[in-house]
Amino acid sequence: MGKYLSVDLKDQVAVVTGATRGIGRAIAEGLAVNGAKVACIGTNAEKLQQTVEEIGATGVEVTAHLCNVALSENVVKTAEEIIARYKTVGILVNNAGITRDKLLRGLTDSDWDDVIAVNLRGTFLMTRAFCETMRRAKKGRIINISSVSGLQGNRGQSNYCASKAGIIAFTRTVALELANRNITVNAVAPGFIDTDMTVGLSEIVKQVAKDSTPLARFGQPEDIANAVLYLASDWASFITGQVLPVDGGMTV
Ligand code: NAI
Repeated sequence: MGKYLSVDLKDQVAVVTGATRGIGRAIAEGLAVNGAKVACIGTNAEKLQQTVEEIGATGVEVTAHLCNVALSENVVKTAEEIIARYKTVGILVNNAGITRDKLLRGLTDSDWDDVIAVNLRGTFLMTRAFCETMRRAKKGRIINISSVSGLQGNRGQSNYCASKAGIIAFTRTVALELANRNITVNAVAPGFIDTDMTVGLSEIVKQVAKDSTPLARFGQPEDIANAVLYLASDWASFITGQVLPVDGGMTV
């Protein structure tokens, strides 16, 4: 288990997409360590099962939900299943994301569509599916994982940057729409974090990434999880529509 911020999330129910590894896995673990019941969403049944067994060792209820967040019918069915089981959901973390990095001249239609579908459409579908239960409860926290690539351009990532900037615009707008129901909607914008998503980057790209980060290192998944835990906690109840960069100073 990683080291996590201590906040009181007892009796809360949280949904985390892309929970089987990397940042999503740390978020799910951090929520569970703090007492929240966690519904883990992913696309790989075996890894989901392993994740819930390991995180379930914290003693809280953790469940696995096989779902591709880019598919509307999948999301609607999964939301019904989770709400039927837990009655309500107070925390939604839209973390699932993919990259298909290429310079524009080589970027195919499917490179564009796949990234927009998972990162942006997935965030929209999940938020729409869970906001009604939060509206009824007049309480909720929605936390979207964007990226520094949503705040600034990055060569070879026009599809990814567009999806992550879209998440920021979506976050701000939905924050306005849901504020009167006491639901906060915020985004976290990670810089370079040590996960499977970045492990395959070339040594040159990794060095450039470190050089462009004032703290001169990659962050850990727990760094992002701790920002999410803060935004999910009562301590952040007056923060909405914001983007919190957790990037070692990259966007300063
Ligand atoms: P990762 O590749 O290790 O994990 C992504 C997770 O999303 C996996 O569990 C994967 O199975 C799941 N996923 C992918 N497509 C899905 C779909 N259609 N439906 C449901 N689940 C799906 O990535 P990592 O690094 O943990 O990234 C997590 C989030 O943080 C992503 O949104 C990513 O864009 C963002 N991010 C990551 C950064 C990094 O340096 N690692 C930097 C900035 C943002």
